[in-house]
Order: sequence, then C-alpha cells, then structure tokens
Amino acid sequence: MSDAFMRVFGRGSVARASAPGRVNLIGDHTDYAEGFCLPMPLPLETHVALAPADGFRVHSEEMEDTLDFDPFGPPRGNWSDYVAGPLAELVKAGFTVPPVEMTVRSSVPSGAGLSSSAALEVATLRAMLSLTGQAVSDSRIAHLAQAGENNYCGVQCGILDQMASAMGRSGQALLLDCRTSTGQLVPVPPGFHFEIVHCGEPRRLADGAYNARRAATVEAARRLGVTALRDADASRIASLSDDTMLKYACHVVTENARVLAAATALQAADITGFGRLMNESHASLAQDFEVSTPALDRLVESARDAGAVGARLTGAGFGGCIVALLAGDSPEWWSRVAVDNPGAWRVPL
Ligand code: GLA
Repeated sequence: MSDAFMRVFGRGSVARASAPGRVNLIGDHTDYAEGFCLPMPLPLETHVALAPADGFRVHSEEMEDTLDFDPFGPPRGNWSDYVAGPLAELVKAGFTVPPVEMTVRSSVPSGAGLSSSAALEVATLRAMLSLTGQAVSDSRIAHLAQAGENNYCGVQCGILDQMASAMGRSGQALLLDCRTSTGQLVPVPPGFHFEIVHCGEPRRLADGAYNARRAATVEAARRLGVTALRDADASRIASLSDDTMLKYACHVVTENARVLAAATALQAADITGFGRLMNESHASLAQDFEVSTPALDRLVESARDAGAVGARLTGAGFGGCIVALLAGDSPEWWSRVAVDNPGAWRVPL
C-alpha cells in the first residue's frame, strides 16, 4: 500500500488501516427494523494509506482515478463521497480532520452486496483516527460510517455492513443485535464451508427500491404502534390491512426468528438445520420481501442441485451475490453450478 502511495503522491504515507468486506449468512433487511443479522467478515479487504496534505485528494487503485474531495463541503456525486461522508461525520462529532492525500486498494468486489462501501468507510475512519491519534470504539466507528453513507451519499442503509466490517473477526460469524449495536462472535464449525457466487448482474442500492423497502417497514411499525418491526410478532402483523406491507413485515418478523435459530444451529454444528434456515430465508426474501431476481433464484436452485445444504441471496438483493453452504470443500460443486449460470462467477476467497 505504501508503494502505491509513493507512486501516486511521490512520498511515503503516514497512517494506514484496513477493513474487510462481509458476507451475510442470514438476516437480510432486518437491520433497519432493529433486528438480528449473522454476517461473517471476508478475507477480502480494503486498505487505505494517507498523509497530511494541503487539500483532500484520494486515489483508487481499482478505479485508476484520483479525485479531489471536501468533507467540509457538499457531496460531489462520485465514489469519493464514500470517503468524504464518514470524515464529514467525524467533523460533525468534533474530531480533528486535517486535509490528507489518500490511496485506496481493495479486493472487495464493488456492487456485489459484499459491503465494499462499508469496508472503504471503516478503513478511511480508522486511518484518519490513527493519523490524528484519536481513539474510538469499533461500534462508534460503525455508526460514524453508517451516518456518512446515510447523510452524505443518500443511501438509507442500516448498520449491518459497517458493524460487520468494524467488529467482525476472521473465521467467526457475528450475531448482531441491531437495536443495541452489540455483537456476539460465533465460531464457524469445521465442515461448514461457505461459497459466494455473483449472479453476474450488478446490485443497485441507489435506485430507490432499497429505500422504499425501508420506508415501508418503518410505516408498518408505525401503524402497528411499535418502535420497530423487531417488536412485532406474526399475530400482531396480521392486522396490517395493506397486503404489500403485510408481506414485508412477515419477512422481517420471520427472518429475525430464523437468525436466532441459525446462530443456535451454528453453535450446535447442525449443518442441516442451518442450511434449511438459509433456504427458508431465500424463499422469504424472494416471495415476501420481493428483492430477488430470476438470475439469483436460478443460481440458488443450481447451488442446491449441485449439493449445497442451503443457499440464499445475500445482502440487499436486486442482483449481486448468493451464499451457499457446503458440507466441506467440494471440488466439482462450482463446475456443476457454472454450467447452468453462464454469467455467474465464484468470488475468490
Ligand atoms: C445492504 C444495507 C444493509 C442491509 C442489507 C440487507 O447491504 O447496506 O444495511 O440492510 O442491505 O440486509
């Protein structure tokens, strides 16, 4: 990373930090309902290096692009907003944010539902805080990162991605309570082998479908007289008169229960139980929450036909990736899946 910084800016960097992408094993579209999720950090990371400068400038190795940005000014409408937004939140919170030049290098694929944005936000905050010698907890970093994405980038994401990136530990799942912003690490037992496959179609968060889902679940909670759908149960949501809202609420309520059951199954090394919950989660996301696509559905089905114990879309949906659970490494699995899904690609882990 310092080599890239040296090459781009002709001097050495002063602070460096990294943060991982994540795969969500189960528990999607529950975070903004103050519910539960079970993400796991990936061995794919974003690295940031920076040094004080006379203005804010960021270079991305993957984009092959260098941009000026200004966390004290309005968004620029390009990828640098994901760097400027979290820094703008640091400013708002009263931290020192000196102008810096930065380089970014990432192995987290973007637009895949694997939290490339959160990894960039968290790594940026860590690098800036390391430069200025200011100490902040992982949970606070996650909230600053999320606020940056909400307020500066206009994406009304929940806290899942940023908490997973900031608090996750390699080889362990993280049972996240999005109401209390606390997490419990759950080791992944030997024999649980997760594969991630991109369906070949990019995921689009900003196209409004995500924000619309979120707004509908908030409205459902308001109509039910609860703080968030986390507080509702199946009998309570039955009173919702709007059919679409009822289906969305049904997904959230049942998904929260599945996450807790899945964490128990993981602790008990119950691979069949965990796989069944993944399958139920996909059905709920597709039929009730309506965030799957034909390509994701086909891929999930092929993954199971080829021997996966469970498979589901992961992240927001609308394209991007699926996660599949295999009982150990199976060399033929991917070649069997690839035959029926020519546009799909296996995420290298
Ligand atoms: C995106 C958002 C998260 C979460 C997931 C769906 O990744 O950034 O906050 O809502 O979608 O679970």
